[in-house]
Amino acid sequence: MQALSIPLRNTTSRYGLVSQLFHWLIVGLILFQYTWAWRIDQAEGIRVRFELVTQHKTIGMLVLGLAVLRLLWRLFNRPPALPSAMRGWEQVAAKAGHWALYGLIFAVPLSGWLYSSAAGYADFWWGPVSFPSLVEANESLEDRMQLVHQGLAISLGVMALIHALAALRHHFINKDDVLKRMLPIWRSKD
Ligand code: HEM
Ligand code: HEM
Repeated sequence: MQALSIPLRNTTSRYGLVSQLFHWLIVGLILFQYTWAWRIDQAEGIRVRFELVTQHKTIGMLVLGLAVLRLLWRLFNRPPALPSAMRGWEQVAAKAGHWALYGLIFAVPLSGWLYSSAAGYADFWWGPVSFPSLVEANESLEDRMQLVHQGLAISLGVMALIHALAALRHHFINKDDVLKRMLPIWRSKD
């Protein structure tokens, strides 16, 4: 049963279990966040809206916590090299895209936290952990942070879409291992 013997760490040819779990868990939570943002927009009644926004903040802070752990894991775990068939500029673009995504999984929740702080509603709970306000309530900052949070969330969505299309292109057009090595499929030669 090779599928059960996936190593925890990355190897020279593919991502290990921990990197894969971080990747797909964060993808799932981010998709949830967009669904929730849409539900907040559609919601009627202040109580329902408040509940949904609180859930959005809770999951967003979970993404931030996972992003910190993921980055630490990444710093001590080199990813597998990109296929040598990729041209120089393609490799640079792929690496730049990955770092931009890393930046955005920090920037989007941090901007949400700053936005909530400026609105005077950052004193929320996450299990036993309470998050402090980052700044004093401030209406003009709140307005600016709303735009920043929205803009960063849209940038994350666009970048993630391009990234996912690139991964599918590798799989279906280039027919290389780039997508498979981020999936829990294992072969004896790995
Ligand atoms: C990966 C994490 C996150 C994603 C992808 C995300 C995405 C979004 C999106 C797409 C919107 C709708 C923007 C609009 O149309 O104006 C939104 C709104 C909002 N987000 Fe986030 N967000 C994240 C994390 C957070 C965090 C951590 C907080 C606060 C601690 C937060 C607070 C808010 C608030 C207060 C709103 C406005 C809700 C309303 O309409 O009343 N977000 N977010
Ligand atoms: C919000 C959505 C997403 C984010 C934030 C994200 C982020 C990332 C990041 C930061 C990396 C680099 C990993 C590293 O170097 O440690 C990566 C790699 C990868 N992602 Fe995503 N990703 C997302 C969605 C997707 C989707 C939907 C797919 C598949 C269709 C996908 C497929 C891959 C693959 C195959 C790799 C490995 C690329 C390689 O081997 O160099 N990702 N992703």
